[in-house]
Amino acid sequence: MPPTLQALLLFVHLVGVVVWVGGMVFAHFVLRPTAVELLPPPGRLPFMTAALNRFFRLVAVAVPALLGSGLALLLQVGFARAPIAWHLMLGSGLLMAGVFAWIYTGLHPRLRQAVSAADWPAAAAALERIRQWVGFNLGLGLLTIAVGVSTRAG
Ligand code: HEM
Repeated sequence: MPPTLQALLLFVHLVGVVVWVGGMVFAHFVLRPTAVELLPPPGRLPFMTAALNRFFRLVAVAVPALLGSGLALLLQVGFARAPIAWHLMLGSGLLMAGVFAWIYTGLHPRLRQAVSAADWPAAAAALERIRQWVGFNLGLGLLTIAVGVSTRAG
């Protein structure tokens, strides 16, 4: 593979990480706590639903780009010769993608339905589950970054 293509794939890979993991940091530590602080449930839940809708649409593009570029980089070396860290990255990347798919296709529609029915207790429960799973994926994402850069430790 030409070095320029390799650099381009790594760029796409890291932009995917920035959008996904950076977005989760923002949603978890900034957006949600501020919404809880300033907005009552009938304002907060539709706001969070709409904000997450935009974020998840971005993530739905970032995830295939991240996994696709990672796989292309890995296959260039081959599974047999790839360092263990790359195998771990593949495993946790797939787990993260599975968790995202569950949030996007399972939990978020539940939240949207409850918000459009103005059922605030059900909406709050769905949002709380999303918060927990996003927190899980954020922890796993940070761990995966550590695994990714660990090959540089020698
Ligand atoms: C299908 C899943 C994935 C595969 C197959 C994969 C594969 C790879 C490969 C082969 C590299 C090395 C590129 C090179 O140096 O030429 C790499 C770099 C990297 N990956 Fe992944 N990756 C995956 C998912 C992820 C995820 C989910 C994250 C973080 C949330 C991540 C974070 C990183 C980082 C930070 C680097 C840069 C490491 C460095 O240059 O020191 N990867 N990935």
